[in-house]
Amino acid sequence: MLRIQQREQGNAVDICEEQPEDWHEVEALMDLCFAPGRTALSSYRLRDRVDPVRDLCLLLRQDGTIRAAIRYWPVRVAGQEVLLLGPIAVHPTAQGEGLGAWLMRESLHRAAEMGWARVMLVGDAPYYSRFGFQKLDHVEMPPPTNPDRVLGLELQPGAWVDIQGQVARETDPDTALAHEDLSGRPDCQPADPAKETPHG
Ligand SMILES: CC(C)(COP(=O)(O)OP(=O)(O)OC[C@H]1O[C@@H](n2cnc3c(N)ncnc32)[C@H](O)[C@@H]1OP(=O)(O)O)[C@@H](O)C(=O)NCCC(=O)NCCS
Repeated sequence: MLRIQQREQGNAVDICEEQPEDWHEVEALMDLCFAPGRTALSSYRLRDRVDPVRDLCLLLRQDGTIRAAIRYWPVRVAGQEVLLLGPIAVHPTAQGEGLGAWLMRESLHRAAEMGWARVMLVGDAPYYSRFGFQKLDHVEMPPPTNPDRVLGLELQPGAWVDIQGQVARETDPDTALAHEDLSGRPDCQPADPAKETPHG
């Protein structure tokens, strides 16, 4: 199991892979960071009954408590394997301290080492562009999803070239599910919509 320790603001922070017994604590963190009903979001339909990519689901622990988490799922676009990044969440009291960037960079590095070619997410370009994500013009998430928030990153040169179409669940690699089957609420709502916290 990956276990690296870094010192953040005086307290040691461990990075480790999420274990099955961590599931509920991570869910609680996600519930804290996102609006109620987050699992009704359309991107969750792509995760239904599909196992996450466990080697890339990482946690940051401080004093035994999970401070941040990132998860990934496999999806398909035009029959090709794609990593769907998210959700990622940092505890509200620890946001802005670089924990999100740490999880992003570590997990993307590991994804590249594992041989994944391309990653996508639904989120704010102003945040995710710092990691190299750009708008995917011809990749369609299930509605209702703002197309400006559909972003991609190549882990291998040219990996997104000519990959276009609807995003499909990994369990249905040959047939993109009809969008009406996958539709849900607009993707990635912040915990406090009044704050207009962005992210995806
Ligand atoms: C989005 C999130 C994961 C970022 O993690 P973090 O640890 O707080 O962010 P970092 O410390 O790595 O980065 C901070 C920087 O990102 C910027 N930033 C954070 N969210 C941003 C956004 N949505 N758009 C633009 N910039 C953003 C901050 O302004 C700061 O900028 P600076 O470096 O110029 O000062 C975290 O804030 C979070 O969990 N938010 C709530 C849940 C969420 O929205 N998750 C993403 C959707 S899947």
